[in-house]
Parts: sequence; C-alpha cells; structure tokens
Amino acid sequence: MLLEVEALDVRYGRTHAVKALSLGVGADEIVTVLGANGAGKTSLLRALQGLTPAAGGRVIFAGGDITKLSPAQRLRRRLALVPEGRQIAITLSVHENLQMGAWCRSDGDVARDIGAIYERFPNLGSRRDMPASVLSGGEQQMLAVSRALLARPRLMMLDEPSLGLSPLLVERLFDLIRALHNDGLAILLVEQNTQMALEVAARGIVMELGRGVLEGPALELSRNERLAAAYLGEARV
Ligand SMILES: Nc1ncnc2c1ncn2[C@@H]1O[C@H](COP(=O)(O)OP(=O)(O)O)[C@@H](O)[C@H]1O
Ligand SMILES: [Mg+2]
Repeated sequence: MLLEVEALDVRYGRTHAVKALSLGVGADEIVTVLGANGAGKTSLLRALQGLTPAAGGRVIFAGGDITKLSPAQRLRRRLALVPEGRQIAITLSVHENLQMGAWCRSDGDVARDIGAIYERFPNLGSRRDMPASVLSGGEQQMLAVSRALLARPRLMMLDEPSLGLSPLLVERLFDLIRALHNDGLAILLVEQNTQMALEVAARGIVMELGRGVLEGPALELSRNERLAAAYLGEARV
C-alpha cells in the first residue's frame, strides 16, 4: 500500500470527528471516501495532509511514518491535497497560483511542468496573467487540481471536487480524475456524488459520525442497499 492509515483519530476539543479510522490506498488505486455532511471526511483528509493534528493512530506513506510530519514535509514526500472549496488565491494570477503549487520543489523543471498544464488546459493558458477570479467554477477546479499536480504527487487527495459544478463539468472532472489515474497517480477521493465516485474508484469506504461503517469493492458498494437508501437516492436510476 502506498498510503496506510491505522486507527486514526481526530478531535476538536470534545468533538471526536474521526474515530479509529483505518484505510489503505494502493500505488495504482482510486479509493473513495463517502458519507453525509459532518461524517468526518474533511477532517480525515486534513489530518492526512498534516493540516489538522492526529489525536491518535498512525499514517504510513510510501513506507515511512509521516504521522508527525508537517504539511510541507508531506508535500515533499509527494502527498498533495486539493482542498474543500478549492482555496484558490483569487487576487493572484493563474500563473502565480500554479507557481504556489510548486513552492516545495527545488528542481529546475517547474516552468516546463506549468507549460504542460497550459497545454492540457488551454483555458488556463490563455488567462495565465489574469486574476484567478476571472475563471469559472469549473476552471477554478482545474486550477486547484493543477496546483496540486505541480507538487508532483504520488497520491492526490481531493475533497468534494465536484461540489458546485454543472453536470457537464462534473463529467469533465471525472474524466480528468480517470486520466490522472491512467498517468499513474493514486487518488483518494472524497465525494458527495456517490454514484460517479463509485464508478471511477476501485474501492470505497463509507463514514458515519467519524467511523468507517462500510468498506469494500466499489461495485459491491454501488449494489449495497443500505448505502443506496442513505446516499444514492434518485441519482442511482
Ligand atoms: N475546526 C473545527 N472545529 C471544531 N469542530 C469541527 C471543525 N471542523 C469540523 N468540525 C466538526 O467535526 C465533524 C466532522 O466535520 P468534517 O470533517 O468537516 O465532516 P465532512 O467533511 O464529512 O462534512 C463535524 O461535527 C464538524 O462540525
Ligand atoms: Mg467536508
């Protein structure tokens, strides 16, 4: 496993947001974390990136224990997060946002890699010197993913990337997730769009009130009646 999470706990004072959660992500895998609002999904991803301290448990990444490492140290080990709500710096230019994604790198290939992003996303290239506020919601999500890519991650975690996007842009986002996976990136995907997440992922885990309550191959989860009743709703048909 590229990422191994063992009995992770996250607490905010009396709120026990993540309770003894364990999961693994293989080097060539997409794993999805599902669950209602408040289930602890964001707390989990933030703890894995080191943005929120773990109150207990261990996080092993690429064979090393990263439980106590800073977010920057985890980024240098090539673990990157596309945060909830994108967190684009809207007053900075598109180009500056991308440069921020590479701040942890000391190699000379950043300009080349940004050029490759502009080839992949011409809408970003044509607006490179404009403030990121001119981008549409879909383009801002592409920018957020691109910024994370510039850390050259081995594992990318995405926190509800489809939130607020039109159905067409959601399709394009999931196409991008598939393409990144085909390029060799491992992905840990937190989604509200349960059906699409289970289509793209190999395995899934469902969180309720901080706990992992259901786990298995995506195909099995998509047929699970309990999950269907709770989260799939009409989106299933
Ligand atoms: N910074 C915080 N301080 C206190 N409580 C928080 C904080 N962030 C999240 N929580 C609480 O932790 C629980 C899990 O929240 P969160 O991880 O955001 O869930 P999700 O992403 O699944 O919606 C919720 O009860 C939420 O109110
Ligand atoms: Mg969340």
